[in-house]
Amino acid sequence: MATSAVMNTYGARAATLVKGEGAWLWDDKGNKYLDALSGIAVCGLGHSHPKIAAAVSTQASTLTHCSNFFEIPNQLQLADKLREISGMTNVFFGNSGAEANEAAIKMARLHGHKKGIKLPTVLVMDDAFHGRTLATLTASGSRKVQAGFEPLVHGFARGPFDDIRALETMGDNNPDICAIFVEPIQGEGGIRVADEEYLKKLRELCDQRGWLLMLDEVQTGNGRTGKYFCYQHSGILPDVVTTSKGLGNGVPIGACLASGEAAKLMQPGNHGSTFGGNPLSCAAGLAAVTAIVEGELDIRAGELGERIMAALKYGLADIDHVKEVRGRGCMIGVELTKPCKSLFMAAMDKGLIINVTADSVIRLLPPFVMTNEEADQLVSILVPLIKDFKKD
Ligand SMILES: Cc1ncc(COP(=O)(O)O)c(C=O)c1O
Repeated sequence: MATSAVMNTYGARAATLVKGEGAWLWDDKGNKYLDALSGIAVCGLGHSHPKIAAAVSTQASTLTHCSNFFEIPNQLQLADKLREISGMTNVFFGNSGAEANEAAIKMARLHGHKKGIKLPTVLVMDDAFHGRTLATLTASGSRKVQAGFEPLVHGFARGPFDDIRALETMGDNNPDICAIFVEPIQGEGGIRVADEEYLKKLRELCDQRGWLLMLDEVQTGNGRTGKYFCYQHSGILPDVVTTSKGLGNGVPIGACLASGEAAKLMQPGNHGSTFGGNPLSCAAGLAAVTAIVEGELDIRAGELGERIMAALKYGLADIDHVKEVRGRGCMIGVELTKPCKSLFMAAMDKGLIINVTADSVIRLLPPFVMTNEEADQLVSILVPLIKDFKKD
């Protein structure tokens, strides 16, 4: 067999998927799979959503791209819509999560320089994941992501997730810190949910020290945790929030939103993107955001997630090798006491698509359009697989 011309960054692929509809995917052999991954937290509205398909198709045959030298009406509309939903004031559009995060990191540095700090430092967390560009892999707390790409980028300090005291002490000892960058729930890190008061306390800490509070909602945003943005559970407003994944329901788009003084940091010439916020991606974004908000799919994500989590907790209650079932909305983790990567293929064989992250955490990121019956089907496939699991 000829080797693929695609660079080998992903290893062997599990199947060749050719079609999707709602919460279902089909491979090239006609096998059908229930999707509890949503293309890694992307397709919250499910596959082939008619409103997204129509918006993309109409826009593609009207104007696909024109560059940011020109005003783009649906970019303005999408920015307005995000402003209204989030309480933030301004939006920069890119094409991915990592790019949205690069914008945030650059803003932190502008903020630091404005305060007279020569080497502005962003405080990031153990086990974080922020992307694969050089700055975002440096911000990520995983040696696997960083190894081989040294020298890493300067200007980051790392502390433990969900530990305010430790961050206070780091701040006392490092006057160069000018921002905190954190995921409200760590996704790739293993669906780690922080204390209820965590974001509120981070907000207070940042206010006391003059630091920017920057949230990475690339995975938690766009309805996934039961509110449009996860920080909205805490009643706080960050200075900067990034999102991507679910924003275009599969069409690449990322956004870095800022509020107050942080929104004034970027000036003409500071940042840009050829494709960022182009008419095609904004058509998808506008259709997706509108469908989520008008269809109250964030609320649905919350209810669906609770149903799945409750059923998993019940079904796995007495299993020794199940450490914890946790999560919020449609971001669910089942942590085992041992590595379980092979469960991914075992689930595929049973017609279910899941993910395993942090070696031993089964991660479920179902689309919010999944019905209760489909959710029950998901649980009825997964529980016996976990119960019978021996080892990788
Ligand atoms: C929290 C978080 N930030 C950033 C990223 C990177 O996004 P992208 O792959 O679109 O660059 C991811 C991707 O998984 C993520 O989960």
